[in-house]
Amino acid sequence: MAKRPLILAVDVGTTKVSALVGEARPDGEVVVLGVAATPVVGMRRGLVFEVERVALAIRDAVNRANSMAGTELSQAVVAVNGDHLAIQAGQARMHLKTGNVRVEDVEQATKRAAQVSHEADRETVQVIRRGLAVDGFRGVVDPVGMVAHEMDAEVLVVTGQTTVLRNLRRVVTMAGLNPVRWIPAPRASGDGVLADDEKQLGVVHLDVGGGTTGISVYRGGHLQYMGVVPIGGESITSDLSVGLGVVSTQAERLKLEYAAVGAERDGTLEVRAVSGQSVKLIPVKELEEIVEARVDEWASMVEQHLSRIDWPKGPAAGVVMTGGGSLLKGLNSYLENRWGWPVRLGVPIGLGGLSDLSRSPGYSVVVGTARAVRNEHIRPESESVWQRIIQFWLTLWN
Ligand SMILES: Nc1ncnc2c1ncn2[C@@H]1O[C@H](COP(=O)(O)OP(=O)(O)OP(=O)(O)O)[C@@H](O)[C@H]1O
Ligand SMILES: [Mg+2]
Repeated sequence: MAKRPLILAVDVGTTKVSALVGEARPDGEVVVLGVAATPVVGMRRGLVFEVERVALAIRDAVNRANSMAGTELSQAVVAVNGDHLAIQAGQARMHLKTGNVRVEDVEQATKRAAQVSHEADRETVQVIRRGLAVDGFRGVVDPVGMVAHEMDAEVLVVTGQTTVLRNLRRVVTMAGLNPVRWIPAPRASGDGVLADDEKQLGVVHLDVGGGTTGISVYRGGHLQYMGVVPIGGESITSDLSVGLGVVSTQAERLKLEYAAVGAERDGTLEVRAVSGQSVKLIPVKELEEIVEARVDEWASMVEQHLSRIDWPKGPAAGVVMTGGGSLLKGLNSYLENRWGWPVRLGVPIGLGGLSDLSRSPGYSVVVGTARAVRNEHIRPESESVWQRIIQFWLTLWN
């Protein structure tokens, strides 16, 4: 009986949980069969704070994605976020006894390179292959079958804090899922939106979410750096709420409708005060100053990460931003002026099917998590055509 390789990807974000059911094509494309997002409370800066509420949101998003796809998948590939994520470089050299490179040599060299030591309260989230060198020739993509004496493997080991990971595992399991693999969110986001030639040339990717900003930097086709800044669009909302004396729903509305960075506008806005029905007049300049102060702090924190990368000329392919926070008006040109690199908004790529929703910038993590199936050799769940037909009729029946 014909089977379809199916994948369920889940991103537990600070403001929303997104779930995607897709079919993994051999060419690496993911055909989206179902996608859904559920607003979540109980997450802070990418971390779980209220277990039950987060588990409910996960269950809701997954149920909706599954029912849209006519599936009942429960094995999930899950994105991990938060500024507890850290990277360590590892390398290993192997002498090749047989005089040529075999699949098991590549696997063993990678495994050895990944044996980095880290503190007792951390564990490995993912090992990312960074490059292979055969007899000193670097940048070999697929060395299997090559005649050689030795091989060097370079990896990036992404680690996270054990307690944080346990809480994520707990909510995912409480939601009825069986997590089969964890993918660091900044890496997933980069893989969700960046083209191969951008990764080759050198590119900075920023996923500006609600509570975090994921940073991933690619060069020479590989991930070179990854980090998370614990600031996103929610900080601007709470600054506006405190600074202007308005409730947070109103502050969010002001942000979405009026906030801009680098706009330098005059005039006033009418808003309702926190208590009572009285109306307040807020100078637009005041609102802009609050937004710019937070954006400036955010950009300096991103710069601290970028300063750790050794590149004299910066990223040749510029900066690609995703995440709801990247939609702040004027942010592109503000960063272009500040950094002198081209900045563009990224949308998820490599998708087919029902992809309208998943093409918006807030879905880069869940899309990249689904696409990880190809890179990570994750065995997708399969279902028979009969199961599909039965599921389809059941969906119509209900
Ligand atoms: N047009 C817009 N202008 C400014 N900010 C926006 C806009 N649209 C969405 N946002 C902000 O984007 C943020 C949510 O982004 P996103 O959905 O990427 O976050 P998340 O994935 O839930 O969080 P995180 O990735 O930090 O865990 C919110 O703070 C929201 O206010
Ligand atoms: Mg996010």
